[in-house]
Amino acid sequence: MRIVEIEKVTFEEGYERSLRPTTLDEYIGQEQIKKNLRVFIEAAKKRKESLDHLLFFGPPGLGKTTLANIIANEMNSNIKTISAPMLEKQGDLAAILTNLEDGDILFIDEIHRLKASIEEVLYSAMEDFRLDIVIGSGPAAQTIKIDIAKFTLIGATTRAGMLSNPLRDRFGITFRLNFYNTKELALIIKLASKKLGYEIKEDSANEIAKRSRGTPRIALRLLKRVSDFAEVDGKKTIDLETSRYALDALGINEYGFDELDIRFLELLINAKKPLGLSTIAAALSEDEDTIEEVIEPFLLANGYIEKTPKGRIATRKAYEVLNFMPNSLF
Ligand SMILES: Nc1ncnc2c1ncn2[C@@H]1O[C@H](COP(=O)(O)OP(=O)(O)OP(=O)(O)O)[C@@H](O)[C@H]1O
Ligand SMILES: [Mg+2]
Repeated sequence: MRIVEIEKVTFEEGYERSLRPTTLDEYIGQEQIKKNLRVFIEAAKKRKESLDHLLFFGPPGLGKTTLANIIANEMNSNIKTISAPMLEKQGDLAAILTNLEDGDILFIDEIHRLKASIEEVLYSAMEDFRLDIVIGSGPAAQTIKIDIAKFTLIGATTRAGMLSNPLRDRFGITFRLNFYNTKELALIIKLASKKLGYEIKEDSANEIAKRSRGTPRIALRLLKRVSDFAEVDGKKTIDLETSRYALDALGINEYGFDELDIRFLELLINAKKPLGLSTIAAALSEDEDTIEEVIEPFLLANGYIEKTPKGRIATRKAYEVLNFMPNSLF
C-alpha cells in the first residue's frame, strides 16, 4: 500500500497544529455545530455506540480537521487520518478498514476527491460495516464479504457539491462551517498569543481579526507575521501600531482582502459584464478550483460578488471598498 506513514510537516503546519484546540470548549465559534456535537457525543457515549458518520464542509482553514480531532478526543477514540487522493486502489481502503477497531474514527480529508471505484467500497462499509470485495473478473468473479469494526467515518470537503449522492446520503450528520466574525477571530488570536508568550492589546487583536478573511488559519498566520515585527522591534506586547504597520507591509487591506481578492474584484469591475469561471481563471492564471474553493466563498459570503446565470459580477459594495465610484453604473 502506498500510504506515506511519515508525513512531512512544514513549519506553517507545525505552528498551526501547536495552536490547535483539543476540546469543544476550547474551540471558538461555530456555536450551532458545537451544540449539536455535544448532544451526539453524549448520546453515543451513553448508548456505548459509535458516533454516526459525519461530514464537514466549508472553505479551507475554518477548522474541519481540528473538529475531527476534537471529536476523537471527546469520544476517547483512536483516529486514523487519510487524504482521499492518497488512496489509489480499492485494496488501499480495504486494508485501512479491516484494521479498524470498534469505536475508531476514520477521517478522510478532501473526500470529494475519492475515486469512484474506491468510493463504492465505502458504501457497504458505512451502512453495514461490511466490505463487499469482488475477486476476479468475468463469469468467475466472486464477491466476498468481510465484516469490519463499527467505526465512525468523518469526511471533510471544501466542495460538498462535488460529493456523489450515494456517498452524501450515507452521512447521518452534515455540518457546514461558516466564516468567523471579528469577535471570534480576535479571541482565537488572543488565546494563540498567550500560548506563544506574547501580550496582545485588544485593539490590536481586533485589527488582525478584521483582516483575516473570516478564517482562523489566516488569523494565526497574520499573528505570526505581526509577532515577527514586534520581536524585531524588541517589543513583548503586540500593539496596534505594530499590527497596522506589519499588515500594511504584507499588503493586506482593512477589509481582509489579499492580493488575489483584489485582482479578482478589479477584473470583474473592469470587465463591466458578467464573467464565467473559465475566463476568470485564465485572466488570473489560477485554476478554477482555487477560485471556487478559496477566493469566491469569502467574497460571496460578504456580498462583494454575486453569481448570476450569466456569470460573476462585482456588487456595489465591491466598487465602494475598492474606491471605484462609477455611480452612474448603479
Ligand atoms: N474554532 C477554532 N478555534 C480555535 N482555533 C481554530 C478554530 N478553527 C481552526 N482553528 C485553528 O486554525 C487552524 C486551521 O484549521 P483546520 O486545519 O482545522 O482547517 P480545515 O478546515 O481543516 O482546513 P483545510 O480545508 O485546508 O483542510 C487549526 O490548526 C487551528 O489552530
Ligand atoms: Mg483540514
